[in-house]
Amino acid sequence: MKLLLIASECAPFIKTGGLADVIGAIPKALSEEGVEGRVLLPLYPALQQIAASGVTVAEFSDLFGGAARLVAVTAEGLDLLLLDAPHLYDRPGSIYLGRDGQDWHDNPTRFAALSHIGARIGVNGIDGWSPDIVHAHDWQAGLVPVYMRQMTNSPPPCVMTIHNIAFQGVFGADMMGSLGLDPAGFTPEGFEYYGRISFLKAGIAYSQKITTVSPTYARELMLPEFGMGLEGLLQARKSDLLGILNGIDLEVWNPQTDPVLEQTFTSRTLKRKHQNRTALERRFDLQSDPDAPLFCVISRLTEQKGLDLLLEVMPQMVERGARLALLGSGNPDLENAYKQAARQYQGRVGVVIGYDETLSHQMQAGADAILIPSRFEPCGLTQLYGLRYGTLPVVARTGGLADTVIDANDAALQSKCATGVQFAPVTAAALAQAIDRTCDLFAETDTWSAMMRNAMKHPVGWDQSAKQYLALFNGLMTA
Ligand code: ADP
Ligand code: GLC
Repeated sequence: MKLLLIASECAPFIKTGGLADVIGAIPKALSEEGVEGRVLLPLYPALQQIAASGVTVAEFSDLFGGAARLVAVTAEGLDLLLLDAPHLYDRPGSIYLGRDGQDWHDNPTRFAALSHIGARIGVNGIDGWSPDIVHAHDWQAGLVPVYMRQMTNSPPPCVMTIHNIAFQGVFGADMMGSLGLDPAGFTPEGFEYYGRISFLKAGIAYSQKITTVSPTYARELMLPEFGMGLEGLLQARKSDLLGILNGIDLEVWNPQTDPVLEQTFTSRTLKRKHQNRTALERRFDLQSDPDAPLFCVISRLTEQKGLDLLLEVMPQMVERGARLALLGSGNPDLENAYKQAARQYQGRVGVVIGYDETLSHQMQAGADAILIPSRFEPCGLTQLYGLRYGTLPVVARTGGLADTVIDANDAALQSKCATGVQFAPVTAAALAQAIDRTCDLFAETDTWSAMMRNAMKHPVGWDQSAKQYLALFNGLMTA
């Protein structure tokens, strides 16, 4: 089976969040099932060096206002198709935002171009290679099935995966002409959304199947509280909507071999994890305290992640003797509030503002628990890394967090399967209670160690999910 993935990011090359990890992982996970996957990505400056060793497989004299070409290259075990369109992608800084912190004004064109080329490859193939299935991810690839439909009556089947419905790619209807969209599709059944164009809605409306990254989020998406305006359409497509959990790369995230840890460890050598905690305390200027847990947070600082609630409960948390190490970046107000908290609770709260992959591994290894109080979380990856490193997740009961963490309630403790703590509703009071409960569990050393072992045993790889994707794709090919 040949699979074309289309996305705006892909680890380890270019990443702003979990989307990148998942795009980098799916082709590898599926290759073990005999799938030949290729990933179409924009050629951002960060990919220039990799592209230098590739070959040009197609040239376009005019792609939305400039010349472009496609470069095929294999790197880090992934077959990439890089869309080299300097007028769209060759610019410094963030892949989505300009220096003023606002979206690049031409984002609709930038990602329409990506979708257009994806559609062309879907319909015409490239370099003697034609995909059986086209797999579009998030709004940036939402127009793929629309363009394919405009090009032919019999396009290959398209699967649209929603990683986060908060980002929909909604733009003015006046762009229809410049984006090459047939106005016939500008209807409530098509890509029209309250008088504007929605890339994500287009993807949902025109794809054969829609997936999201956890079963619970798939159900939540059909509710007004979570669907962000698209719940009606998703209810209508209910029989084509499926939640498939993300996995993680078990080689990159392996406490037994992770090269950046102070000390590697396994579930049989849990005591060694403590050396990582000591290193972490040093790195974040935290006092050591064997009686209370060291919590960590590794996150984008946005409304979604609920980290404003953690600021509210900080006094209670510190009062209980717990400590916090936070790594994150994003919303400037939240960044400042956390810097202020680190000053106020010196020795108890340590904060690093920024993005640091190495440090994120060291935190997963050194902390006792990882806090994820998200208001919504399609899947979430950091709780999965936490499970793998015996760092117990304390999570809001929503989306993929609800599906991957087993709350330490009495039944789970008795059955010896608890792996963390869940709380609901997502309020400061419930979070404070969850932190309190975690501190109590931590004090019961045997219970806590048993939970760590359960967590480390919990399957967080791609095996199951790869099979589910394969079954979905096979079903489409024989339909
Ligand atoms: P989202 O995609 O919504 O940001 P996920 O939990 O799916 O949430 O994925 C986040 C990914 O980004 C994880 O791999 C996490 O480790 C990483 N990450 C987030 N913030 C940082 C940071 N400041 N430094 C390093 N890695 C980070
Ligand atoms: C999104 C979601 C996150 C998910 C990731 C990968 O960024 O916010 O929950 O894990 O995509 O699917």
